[in-house]
Amino acid sequence: MSESIFLQACSNKKTSRPPIWFMRQAGRYLPEYRELRKKYSFEEMTHTPELALKVTLQPIERFQFDASILYSDILIIPEYFGIHFSFKGGVGPYLSDQSLSLKDLANCLKQHHDPHALNFVYSAISLIKKELSKTNTPLIGFAGSPFTVACYLIEKQSSKDFSKVSHAVTHSPDDLHTILSNLTEATILYLKTQIKHGVQAIQLFDTWGSILNEHDYIEFSYNYMHKIFSALKDENIPLIVYSKNTSQLHSHLCHLPISVCGVDWNSDILSLKSRYPDLVFQGNLNPHLLLENKDEALAYTKNLCNEMKDQPGFIFNLGHGILPKTPLEHVAAIVEHIKGIN
Ligand code: CP3
Repeated sequence: MSESIFLQACSNKKTSRPPIWFMRQAGRYLPEYRELRKKYSFEEMTHTPELALKVTLQPIERFQFDASILYSDILIIPEYFGIHFSFKGGVGPYLSDQSLSLKDLANCLKQHHDPHALNFVYSAISLIKKELSKTNTPLIGFAGSPFTVACYLIEKQSSKDFSKVSHAVTHSPDDLHTILSNLTEATILYLKTQIKHGVQAIQLFDTWGSILNEHDYIEFSYNYMHKIFSALKDENIPLIVYSKNTSQLHSHLCHLPISVCGVDWNSDILSLKSRYPDLVFQGNLNPHLLLENKDEALAYTKNLCNEMKDQPGFIFNLGHGILPKTPLEHVAAIVEHIKGIN
């Protein structure tokens, strides 16, 4: 079978049209997903390979996206250390042990690990691969950047101001580094095992690195991502970084050992491409625009694809995950436009 348009673009090749997939493409904007969620909790869905398979395939079946992403979450990896997040409707991820101090966390991550705790993810990948091979749709595996995962571990839930993390950066950098180093080692093993089970590209989600100033970003987020990507370099599959709100940090991010840089809507993809022609860029429709205004989202998409039409190595995506209330017809209009380009 010929190489998929997504993998061609990841190799910085010119494609007849940009490949398209959406971050969070398997999720609550899909009625078939909401239907399953009436029966099963998010934890059940992510921990049961047959359900993860079903949900991973839903957006592929409905929209024929050019790549599929494993249905899981960046907050599954703490289970490797015996730490389980629960996901409460309206609250988001939540640690039941709210008294866990920074020191407790550092000690826990140093001492406790079970490499088999994530086996259900690998089983899901094997099931998904079997199905996707029928349509030659590539599967993207992923993890959170160690700093982003640490943000949730330290705050123990979603946060608006990340005050506990900021406190750790200033007052307990050693404990924070212990947490980040252990998460980094676990992430390398986790992603290598995902690759062994058949994922064809890897994306690291660095959602919260942008709360740090440039100096701290390098020390607490960038350096650990660098270590992960360097460890995966010999696997010879596309490595993608997605970093939100970090347009001022591109001179660093674009020097990671990666092939694809995912950017949000504050970045100008064409000018990035002219500065870094060897790098592939992925993005960057604003998911709020997609939710609110189909015509404006379509106009943005047409303009971006037109600007990029002579460039190799461009992957169309959102600048962040799709929002749960996004109308299906808005997604359909974007997919239809991209697939019609030739
Ligand atoms: O992209 C995909 O379709 C693959 C699966 C995926 C999910 N989360 C499924 C999910 C991926 C790649 C993620 C990444 C993720 N998870 C990130 C990084 C990207 C980003 O969005 O910034 C972060 C920060 C998380 C942590 C997380 N998971 C939060 C804060 C929440 C609750 C709030 C929310 O957005 O729903 C989740 C839950 C979650 N992860 C859901 C899904 C489909 C919703 C669960 C439900 O069905 O109720």
